[in-house]
Amino acid sequence: MSRPRLRLVEVGPRDGLQTAGAAVSTDAKVAFVDALSLSGLREIETGAFVSPKAVPEMADSAQVFSRIKRKPGVLYSALVPNDKGLDAALAAGADKIAIFTAASETFNKKNINASIAESIDRFKTVVPAAQSKKLPVRAYVSTAFYCPYEGKIKPEAVVAVIKTLESMSVDEYSIGDTIGRASPDDVRRLLDVLLKAVPVENIFLHFHDTYGMAVANALTAWTEYGVSGFDASTGGVGGCPYAPGASGNVAMEDLVFAFHASGGDTGVDVRALQAAARGLSSALGRPLPSRLGKIAL
Ligand code: HMG
Ligand code: MG
Repeated sequence: MSRPRLRLVEVGPRDGLQTAGAAVSTDAKVAFVDALSLSGLREIETGAFVSPKAVPEMADSAQVFSRIKRKPGVLYSALVPNDKGLDAALAAGADKIAIFTAASETFNKKNINASIAESIDRFKTVVPAAQSKKLPVRAYVSTAFYCPYEGKIKPEAVVAVIKTLESMSVDEYSIGDTIGRASPDDVRRLLDVLLKAVPVENIFLHFHDTYGMAVANALTAWTEYGVSGFDASTGGVGGCPYAPGASGNVAMEDLVFAFHASGGDTGVDVRALQAAARGLSSALGRPLPSRLGKIAL
């Protein structure tokens, strides 16, 4: 199997900081995004236009968008749950939007107060409105391996959600191991089914790292299945407020290091990620989970 060039999406400013507490200032978020922009990353999920009651940490996303130094060639994207979120994302100048649903009914209800079908109904106005402004659209499918409430999720449930999204012609799917519990065998079981239904270039995998298996999962998907799209969060911060026990995303610097060590081409400078993580760590006043954060290269 040939190994395609990697396409990495930084989700730290959104997924990483959405559970960080109100202590993270807008200044610190802007500094984090600006540092990430210098690393060679091509896409940075910069904030979320969700209810401030649901996720207070993202309430200043419009200010973050207005103050970052945009680097040409980098896409600054936003998470959006509904029309109201899309309007705010457009006003803020987001370059791309990400809608989100799940393969588990219970998680989706807790996360966005909607059944899977209701959430997809909401997207039927959001997606064409974004596309009419020429914005690319990503669709997240969370809890694709395990749900904190329903346990193990069947690969067929993930495919069923994607089938209902297909008519909207979104550009890509990000398949989430929301609670960071998947193993390489779980990844194989899902990809064996998923890649029969969706072209591999439309798939991104979004691993959280609660059980320390995220790098192994990504390498498995890349080397054995040719998946080239991965999400990660510099510093390894984060989690989902509606997925109890979930830890942060796989750290971008750990993932980039693993890909480079395996002959992969990411276009990303690990030292620049380490510098971004150091800045975030001092803003948060605590060490971050990434392994590379503790190693001088
Ligand atoms: P709801 O309460 O059902 O919504 O929440 P509503 O339409 O009844 O509105 C309630 C209030 O929210 C109203 O304000 C609305 O105006 C306001 P009020 O009248 O009470 O003052 N509202 C909004 N405000 C700002 N922006 C908006 C917006 N929409 C409504 N877009 C809703 C439904 C979806 C809004 C809410 O549940 C929500 O915002 N949830 C977001 C949850 C979230 O962000 N979770 C984390 C991200 S998902 C994740 O982390 C997983 C992922 O990383 C992948 C993986 O790891 O698997 C993506
Ligand atoms: Mg996530």
